Amino acid sequence: MLTTKNAKKIVGEITVPGDKSISHRAVMFSSMAKGKARIYGFLPGADCLSTISCFKKMGVSIEQQGDQVVVDSQGLDALVEPHEVLDVGNSGTTIRLMSGILAGRPFHSTLVGDESIARRPMKRVVNPLKQMGARIDGRSGGEFTPLSLRGGELKGIEFHSPVASAQVKSAIILAGLQAEGVTTVYEPHLSRDHTERMLSSFGIELESFEGGVSIRGGQTMVQQEEIHVPGDISSAAFMLAAAAILPGSELTIRGVGVNPTRTGIIDVLLEMGSDLKVENERIQNGEPVADLTIRYAPLRGIEIGGAIIPRLIDEIPIISVIASQAAGTTVIRDAEELKVKETNRIDVMVEELRKMGAQVEGTEDGMIIHGGASLVGAHCHSHGDHRIGMSMAIAGLVAEGQTTVEEAEAINVSFPGFEETLSKIVEG
Ligand code: S3P
Repeated sequence: MLTTKNAKKIVGEITVPGDKSISHRAVMFSSMAKGKARIYGFLPGADCLSTISCFKKMGVSIEQQGDQVVVDSQGLDALVEPHEVLDVGNSGTTIRLMSGILAGRPFHSTLVGDESIARRPMKRVVNPLKQMGARIDGRSGGEFTPLSLRGGELKGIEFHSPVASAQVKSAIILAGLQAEGVTTVYEPHLSRDHTERMLSSFGIELESFEGGVSIRGGQTMVQQEEIHVPGDISSAAFMLAAAAILPGSELTIRGVGVNPTRTGIIDVLLEMGSDLKVENERIQNGEPVADLTIRYAPLRGIEIGGAIIPRLIDEIPIISVIASQAAGTTVIRDAEELKVKETNRIDVMVEELRKMGAQVEGTEDGMIIHGGASLVGAHCHSHGDHRIGMSMAIAGLVAEGQTTVEEAEAINVSFPGFEETLSKIVEG
């Protein structure tokens, strides 16, 4: 259980843990390449630890201590058939990307996860991977876990993904790398491109174009000696939000990943009226990194929809908290993907925010938040979803009295040390 109470302001300078998406990919790709890689700034959250455990079960030597990981691999062809089931825990990125990798491996494997994973749709990766030649089965015709895979000789496909999902795109790219010929994935809007960037740094040629990406199979990955993972903008978002809604705040977060496919939250905060600066921009392992400084300024409601949605998909729960403190109404559209995240994040945020007195409605594809309501402390629940738990804890900072968040341990999925970091910058 986590407790937060009405705070005066946010002041200070912090860093946030490593980017979850990039940490997963660093472990996966260095396990697929031959040789030794050192990963710095790794996110030691539950999801990324699940990825490490899967590769260990396939014979890769991985040592992890805090945010440092050493991967020593004999390469993709040396991965061995796991004796045990591969447990992805709560991690959608692990199960979807692993499916793409395993689709090309000539052995049997079984992927399982927790109760939340068991409810999340898998046909979006299972169907194209089957079309490429992998044998995959799962509950309800392959829609749900457990998934059982027998990889095989793959052939390249052209796949038009109905959803803008980096997990789907990445799974198909990773299978395409092992397939005969060229594989092309088209997506309705550009989703995060960490897979494309990191594979390029491993010496793989990809062709990114408006609307999609192509990869030629059979290329060999070149191991990276060092991979530096930037701070996670999706974790930084919670701290930025706290400063954005508490008058008098001034916060700097150093070393945050600002890949343009992830910075929708910055665009939204600016459009709502925040005083936010992106400084010292530099490139680390092909990823842009910067320091972010936010000073409180009054906020106004805005409309959010279309191509920006994949660029802020994980930030919508905390954006709804920010919107509750803005003048006027915020409308979020085109975000039906929220229903199939760790929880149905539309329903859950509406339920939790209403407990605090916020005026918020769920819609078919998003939310309508009427800002300006004074929040009151409440007994909230994370529903086992890290981002819901953190969103409610931050809402507690502007609510009268005290707010408790039940099942707050879920926060360790992406932001171990959340409470300590917050306590460093909360005043009053
Ligand atoms: C992720 C992609 C997103 C995001 C998730 C991480 C990734 O999911 O919500 O937290 O690392 O590729 P979708 O690709 O399914 O939208």
